Amino acid sequence: MTLKYLYAAILTAGTALAGHAAQAAGDLNLICAADVVICEQMKADFEKVHDINVSMVRLSSGETYAKIRAEARNPKTDLWWGGTGDPHLQAASEGLTLEYKSALLDQLQDWAKKQAESSGYRTVGVYAGALGWGYNTDIFTAKGFKEPKCWADLLAPEYKGEIQIANPNSSGTAYTALASLVQIMGEDQAFDYLKKLNANVSQYTKSGSAPVKAAARGETAIGIVFMHDAAAQTAEGFPIKSVAPCEGTGYEIGSMSIVKGAKNLDNAKAWYDWALQPEVQSRMKDAKSFQLPSNKTAEVPKEAPRFEEIKLIDYDFKTYGDPVTRKALLERWDREISANAN
Ligand code: G6P
Repeated sequence: MTLKYLYAAILTAGTALAGHAAQAAGDLNLICAADVVICEQMKADFEKVHDINVSMVRLSSGETYAKIRAEARNPKTDLWWGGTGDPHLQAASEGLTLEYKSALLDQLQDWAKKQAESSGYRTVGVYAGALGWGYNTDIFTAKGFKEPKCWADLLAPEYKGEIQIANPNSSGTAYTALASLVQIMGEDQAFDYLKKLNANVSQYTKSGSAPVKAAARGETAIGIVFMHDAAAQTAEGFPIKSVAPCEGTGYEIGSMSIVKGAKNLDNAKAWYDWALQPEVQSRMKDAKSFQLPSNKTAEVPKEAPRFEEIKLIDYDFKTYGDPVTRKALLERWDREISANAN
């Protein structure tokens, strides 16, 4: 081989290697629909073990669904991690997300596997948590309020302007509340209840956990949220007490889906498999993310509200994650509640 050919061969090999390395590294466009602190921790942990650059945005569950739907022809997102399961199921049934069976499926709790099976493997459960509320004990003492133990108690006139809950269009938490009340009371009675509750609600926030963060800062007395979000504020040292409603309550199966048409499909699968590992899920508590993990061998945080201690309804994910049901309930909420908001 002449020197010239040798030089050309080295150049070609170098280019091929560089090309391969760039491909292996690559990017991942992630929407994270859980709390921003766990979102950032997950991104940093993943980037430590994979040579993949993660562009992450935090959006609420309903907002994520709307964005993925709007971008269906030209997806800008590869993976949707976290947030309540209903909008993931809705996206699955509209064919917006991709079927994928991780090798780790067998390691998961039944509720997480069921979420995968019922969506034709277009989504999977990553964590679970029950709905309730958190209240500020300092405000309660100062105002002489009694602990509201039941959904019915939240209608007491003394709580006028003292309650926050999110808007169910943007927030999966608030949609879980809406669907839970419908399942507990029946639809008409649930809307009747929400109209009365409206008199006590000072603000419908965009994100689901914002109400209990506001309660922690003393801006409102009660925030209707997932109980683990209330527990996170208590763990931060705020005077927040959590309540599991006496009539029963719904819960979420926080989920994960790969977007159909993902530009970085291999990297999306790499995140998917990584996020189902027990070590990764056991780390969630370090971000004060106290949900129940979906991998059976992941550590359950001691702060996590236990399902055995909460009166849970048999939440019908199939029905309430169905596009027709979700759309109809949200439209009715807009007409009957949002239009009359304070
Ligand atoms: C919080 C909770 C998550 C939940 C999420 C839904 O981050 O910790 O468990 O999935 O809220 O957010 P959203 O803003 O859609 O209600």
